[in-house]
Amino acid sequence: MRDCIRAARPAAVINCAAWTAVDRAETEPAACRAANEQAVAHLAAACRETGAWLVQVSTDYVFGGDGGRRVPWREDDLPAPRGVYAASKLAGEEAARGWERHQVVRTCGLYAAGAEGPVRGRNFADTMLVLARDREEVRVVADQHCTPSHVPHVAAAILELLATGLPGTFHVTNAGATTWHGFATELFRRAGLPTRVVPITSAEYPSPVPRPAYSVLDGSRLAAAGITLPDWRVGIADYLAAGAESPRRS
Ligand SMILES: NC(=O)c1ccc[n+]([C@@H]2O[C@H](COP(=O)([O-])OP(=O)(O)OC[C@H]3O[C@@H](n4cnc5c(N)ncnc54)[C@H](OP(=O)(O)O)[C@@H]3O)[C@@H](O)[C@H]2O)c1
Repeated sequence: MRDCIRAARPAAVINCAAWTAVDRAETEPAACRAANEQAVAHLAAACRETGAWLVQVSTDYVFGGDGGRRVPWREDDLPAPRGVYAASKLAGEEAARGWERHQVVRTCGLYAAGAEGPVRGRNFADTMLVLARDREEVRVVADQHCTPSHVPHVAAAILELLATGLPGTFHVTNAGATTWHGFATELFRRAGLPTRVVPITSAEYPSPVPRPAYSVLDGSRLAAAGITLPDWRVGIADYLAAGAESPRRS
């Protein structure tokens, strides 16, 4: 990475690479930390050497702890990561902060249409559309509050944020909040699909690492920098519109 950055001399490096297998990180912690912590330290060093800005994409999962919370998290709230993945992402944030020209961008629940439109099956929205093809109902957790965010909206905001030249940590998600159940319901409604969305609890859909019960991020620091993102429902509309000409959906 250092050779590459020395040769390219970029104005900024936007680090989207990460170990994102949250549950598998528990059994392969070294590989997870190498990608999410140590690689960021190398990037920060290379950026310091060349003067490049470093944008480190991070996650709402750093706020894993407080199940009773119902107020969006601010950037300076105390993180409480649960599990290897979340802890490694928090350590990656710290590594990025080691170089003054950094922007740590915490986002949440990313989804986007692929090159061929929706339905490649690699994010929650794609998965729901695949399931809806041959199921009359899907069971979706209704007790995890968050803001699923459309990647093109987040990406545009990151570029705007870079242009401000403001260092620090910023929460960058679509506006508003919902649950995965609320998201799936709105997705099917907008897609015109009859599939029922049955609410279940996290306890009925257990995973090795518990997901945050409430990880809505407060976007007011971003707004103070003059940047706002559309409501999460607009994210769904844009995601579906991106697949309008997809051969797979015709
Ligand atoms: N997805 C979400 O809901 C979500 C929510 C909040 C924050 N985030 C953060 O957003 C960022 C992007 O997440 P994502 O969901 O787009 O992840 P993703 O789909 O898993 O993509 C991660 C990318 O990182 C690359 N990568 C992984 N390990 C690497 C390594 N050791 N060396 C080089 N490249 C490596 C992968 O390359 P290959 O494809 O070649 O393996 C892949 O292109 C991450 O920082 C993640 O923590 C994601």
